[in-house]
Amino acid sequence: MQFDAVAPGSHPPLIYPPYKSTTKRGPSQEPLRIRAPAPVSTNLAARSSLILPNDTDLTLHGHSAPLGEKIVVSGVVRDEDGRPVRNSLVEIWQANSAGRYWHNRDQHEAPLDPNFYGVGKMLTDDEGRYRFVTIKPGPYPWGNHDKAWRPAHIHFPCSATCMRSAW
Ligand SMILES: [Fe+2]
Repeated sequence: MQFDAVAPGSHPPLIYPPYKSTTKRGPSQEPLRIRAPAPVSTNLAARSSLILPNDTDLTLHGHSAPLGEKIVVSGVVRDEDGRPVRNSLVEIWQANSAGRYWHNRDQHEAPLDPNFYGVGKMLTDDEGRYRFVTIKPGPYPWGNHDKAWRPAHIHFPCSATCMRSAW
């Protein structure tokens, strides 16, 4: 399977059985092109009341600075035609610098950081931009195969689908 936005050979297959998670999470059908009614640049479902003052800076949630390398994660949410999407709700969640999530299901041996919960959210601005201050997450063990680890990553649920990001 190959999507238009991915140059051939630039990414691994979206479903790759040796990496077990892809068999459950990878798309099994081609993406649907959904035509939104004009104007498409505003997500009316997003509400600014969902956002709290420190939701964009994950390093401010504890009593002192969290452990790890401070980073900025930013990008632009775009619609399928490349136009910026304003007021799109962008959420992030991630492991701490030791690779441990603040979640009951994460019980691996890495320590929790009492100053880092790993959750943030914001609405994109008029140019579709988002920006978070956070900590570079650590890799963590994952059951894809014996001694498998997931590389450092940040989860990005987003109310729009076309996005560029960088840290
Ligand atoms: Fe993860």
